[in-house]
Amino acid sequence: MLIQHENEPLGNAIRKAMSNCIGLGQSTYTPTQMVVAKARGRHLYTVDGRRLVDFTSGVLVQNLGYSHKKFERYFERHRKNLPRNTYNMVSPLHVKASERLLKTMKNNPNAQKLLWAASGSEGVQKAMWTALKRYPHRNILAATRFGFHGKKGLAGDVTGDASPNPNVRFISFPLGEPQPAAYYQAELDALAAEFPGQIALLITEPYLGAKGSYHPPAWYHQLLQAWCNSHDIPFIFDEVQSCFGRTGNMYAFESYGVQPDLVVLGKGLANGEPAAAVAGRADLIDVLKYGEGSDTYSGATSACAAVCAALDVFEEEKIVKCARKAGKKLKAVLEILAKSFDFITEVRGEGMVYGIEMKDDATANQCVLEAYRATKRKGVHFLGPLAGKVLRVSPPLTITNDELEEALALLKKGWARVAT
Ligand SMILES: Cc1ncc(COP(=O)(O)O)c(C=O)c1O
Repeated sequence: MLIQHENEPLGNAIRKAMSNCIGLGQSTYTPTQMVVAKARGRHLYTVDGRRLVDFTSGVLVQNLGYSHKKFERYFERHRKNLPRNTYNMVSPLHVKASERLLKTMKNNPNAQKLLWAASGSEGVQKAMWTALKRYPHRNILAATRFGFHGKKGLAGDVTGDASPNPNVRFISFPLGEPQPAAYYQAELDALAAEFPGQIALLITEPYLGAKGSYHPPAWYHQLLQAWCNSHDIPFIFDEVQSCFGRTGNMYAFESYGVQPDLVVLGKGLANGEPAAAVAGRADLIDVLKYGEGSDTYSGATSACAAVCAALDVFEEEKIVKCARKAGKKLKAVLEILAKSFDFITEVRGEGMVYGIEMKDDATANQCVLEAYRATKRKGVHFLGPLAGKVLRVSPPLTITNDELEEALALLKKGWARVAT
């Protein structure tokens, strides 16, 4: 489906050219198909001159915002003189980035060593490989239902609520009002009784992001961890989208009061450079021998430089503290919107990640579009309605009160045109 917008000659030509040379499967659906020309701070600019407040951070990636001067400067400084790829070499930067990353996880004594990866799903897959190799006689992969861990390999197998892999078993994740703790405990105990000594791992997401922002009570994750500990099952926390401040702490494992055996990191970890990692217990990480977790791009120079530069900025500018403050304002803005528009049925989230649930999928789709074209030259950029009727809200952690007020005013204008 070729998307074209009124009064966007440059954007329309590029959209058309894209449809001729890039497969549809490359992108997820969005009704705007915004054609970006420039990005500064918390604003995106289209080729036809529209200015948009960014409510996405890419896809929870550029947590520091765009063209962040210090980040860009530090990034260049860290990678200076090094080859882009250090395969079969050791670079001091690679070691420094790894040490610094582990140090940020000091609230989890299990974060002892790490493996780098080139994408979130590869990080998940490497985490699962370590558990499977550590316990070669166990073949059951337990996962909490409706998580998103990626589309590739084992990460794809433990995503959603049905798996092509016959060894995957899903257990309930609270959607909306949680069941009493005994309900989840009973499910876990039944699983352990059905497969005694056969469960290789349990993987979960801190909150269900892609499913539409469902954030469980902390006791749920604590219950999962206690069950894993009592059966000596590695507890894998997929923090690909929550790491680096999104929940109002550096890591969601701090927000939820758990100490997972393996934590998978991605997205915001490198503020936009492709980088991911899994950090965890040394006895798990070390089961993979020479080459078993290697690939061409994992831990590349740009990834390590970007992680170091992001950490420099997080430390100097106290980004986590800023995120907590911005999160309060964001919540207030979303609550005003919910009061203003009857088609919003719920707003839910934490820190700097929220979902706005609309009455149906068509309304969510129209809201993305009307946010984009709120006024003649300005708007708000959302991800497409990937979670059906839930719009996901994840601005850069550095967004200011004035920028959030600007977004509120634009959304009030744009959404006044949405049919109720
Ligand atoms: C929680 C979570 N895990 C894993 C992934 C997969 O990451 P990637 O797309 O980098 O493979 C994502 C991506 O959205 C994610 O949100």
